[in-house]
Amino acid sequence: MRERLAALRAEAEAATAACRAPEDVEAVRVRFLGRKGSLNAILRGLGALPPAERPQVGALANEVKAAIEARLAEAAERVGRAALARRLAEERLDVTMPGRGRPRGHVHPLRAVEDEVIDVFVAMGFRVVEGPEIEDEFHNFGALNFPPDHPARDMQDTLFLAGADDCLLRTHTSPVQIRVMRSTTPPLRVVVPGTVYRRDELDATHSPMFHQVEGFMVDEQVSFADLKGVLTHALRRLFGTRAGVRFRPSFFPFTEPSAEVDVACVRCPTGAPEAGCRVCRGSGWLEIVGAGMIHPNVLRSVGYDPEAVRGFAFGMGIDRLAQLLYGLEDLRLFFENDLRFLAQFPG
Ligand code: PHE
Repeated sequence: MRERLAALRAEAEAATAACRAPEDVEAVRVRFLGRKGSLNAILRGLGALPPAERPQVGALANEVKAAIEARLAEAAERVGRAALARRLAEERLDVTMPGRGRPRGHVHPLRAVEDEVIDVFVAMGFRVVEGPEIEDEFHNFGALNFPPDHPARDMQDTLFLAGADDCLLRTHTSPVQIRVMRSTTPPLRVVVPGTVYRRDELDATHSPMFHQVEGFMVDEQVSFADLKGVLTHALRRLFGTRAGVRFRPSFFPFTEPSAEVDVACVRCPTGAPEAGCRVCRGSGWLEIVGAGMIHPNVLRSVGYDPEAVRGFAFGMGIDRLAQLLYGLEDLRLFFENDLRFLAQFPG
């Protein structure tokens, strides 16, 4: 029996040394030390020994068992380490490898200019409101003091919706003045970005669809000086702190007095416009904004008392502003959405 135990020990040690994976270790344990394993098989013969030999053989059996257990523990650790090393090698990640670039989108250049304009006014306490692109005659014209026979109301200039009674595509963002004033009371400081439509053929400087930012302020003491101050500040934020700004008399049915506001040409040196300049065409000035004091008839049409409150309003064309800021000759580039063009304005 001693020889059998010694042989078992040698056999178990060899089997343990051959283990490569945690499952191998477990299989060896079951085979030699399990309930139906080889050691128990030998121990079942213990009763057949003379009683005097039993304690010594029993002690030897325990020794063999402890030795095998110790080897199994070693083997378990060894194969565990090897498995970890294998995983680390397989899942190795080279963090110095250059990444795969993902194309990154950005806002459209028109939206970027619109955002910039809005930010300037929001910083002065204006809030942003939007209105519908499909309007009616009252909001787009009537309430804005357009006389009934005004040419803008003509089919030639305005896109009316076929088959729908009194529905048109707004020709400017000014109807939102009416909507805001009819639903709220002064003091008001509001900017309105939006898409507008006119019956124009698409060419380098015209589009039947374009964008405006409207703004207006209504309060007890608003004056033309406030209009000048606010617009001069805004335009200098957009074109540079030293940019020249000038106000010229103009006319709109919904403002009185009215003004056209120009910024000194971004391309030409101050005071010396170049005859061939493609941005200002030699005039040295860029027309950017229509503006004025809100007409008393407009205030009345929204239920305000022109004796008690006054306001100014302005509207600027975003497409034109973007064209000037980016020095583009052809407006159509903004609408074709050719990615080779758009990618040049990462914002
Ligand atoms: N609504 C005018 C336009 O589209 C611009 C404007 C707005 C003028 C507000 C004066 C005041 O041309």
